[in-house]
Amino acid sequence: MDAASWGPFPVRTRRAVEAVARRREQGGTLAPDFFTRALGGARSGAARLLGCPVEEVALAPNTTWGIQVAATLVGAGPPGRILYHHGEFPTCVLPWRVLVERGFTLEEVPSDRLGRPQPDLLLERIHSAPDLRAVTLSLVQFATGVVADVEAVVEACRTRGVFLALDAIQGMGILPLPPAALEADVIASGAQKWLLSPWGSGFLRLHPRHLPGGTPLPPVVSWFGFESALDFTTLLDYDPVPLPDGRLFEPATLGIQDFAGMGASVELLLEVGVERIRRHVLAVQEPLVQWIRERGDQVEPVTPLDRDEERAGIVAFRTPRTEAVAAAMAEAGITLSVREGLVRFSPHLYTTVDEMERAVKVLDGCH
Ligand SMILES: Cc1ncc(COP(=O)(O)O)c(C=O)c1O
Repeated sequence: MDAASWGPFPVRTRRAVEAVARRREQGGTLAPDFFTRALGGARSGAARLLGCPVEEVALAPNTTWGIQVAATLVGAGPPGRILYHHGEFPTCVLPWRVLVERGFTLEEVPSDRLGRPQPDLLLERIHSAPDLRAVTLSLVQFATGVVADVEAVVEACRTRGVFLALDAIQGMGILPLPPAALEADVIASGAQKWLLSPWGSGFLRLHPRHLPGGTPLPPVVSWFGFESALDFTTLLDYDPVPLPDGRLFEPATLGIQDFAGMGASVELLLEVGVERIRRHVLAVQEPLVQWIRERGDQVEPVTPLDRDEERAGIVAFRTPRTEAVAAAMAEAGITLSVREGLVRFSPHLYTTVDEMERAVKVLDGCH
């Protein structure tokens, strides 16, 4: 029950990774489509998940890469203010620090008593903060599990012409992406969590207004990002034409075995259907949600529980018995996480209601 940390491999994913490893073991010449099959499959899987054309997708080794691309795009413009919520994962915030040296300021919007974001405060700051250039936000927060009101943030950013970077790693594969998210300038996600993919695989999606790229160049200028790389027999053009799509933003040679695995995992998730996975996970969460409600005198819900739309895969709560819960769960062979003092459950499509009922019994034994 810990997909918010990392997801296990489906069998077909392990096989896809192993097939690449076996091919490497053999050495020799690679078939011409060896790279394009693995990378193209991962790119088109990501595009289907996002609901955008494949040309807008760039593969990336992690979420940080996409947020770094966002910071590079914003950094090419005049200095100004960048807003984020307290409580965001460092990936959402730290890549922007390079811009502070160039005269930008980072402004934090405070969280509430339980560490949750205050969406009205963020919207108010988007409307009123002077020299606002960018908002960096996660679709689903890593510790609290709060789902952002993407539509409202997109609308506010659009009204003021403010750049929006969305860290979607805690939503991809468990929450159908809200259509408004495609108005964000950059969506970034690693695939190691809910997408059940290898570490080192992920993607970003660039709004078409940033394509074709070339100005500014991405944070790492990759020889693969240019037309010159389409023919390996003549590579020495040092003033090449940038590729007109997301590939310009990919960081040179990628982990082919990891993206072969990601392609296989995403294919499986798409076969099952993200909306169906979400409905299943909501049902699995139900015994836990009921338990948190009944134990209102001892534990405090942090993830909003009243309406399904307010949460994704994470259910987090505060208890004075955190350490006892962590120890009892480990003893029972149930994986979960403690983050920022909260007990965090994140079941996925492979978790059953029975298993959650068993976990609830363990919780009961600690309270
Ligand atoms: C919201 C969020 N963003 C990003 C990450 C990870 O970032 P990266 O993929 O760059 O390692 C995590 C968890 O590890 C996370 O929960």
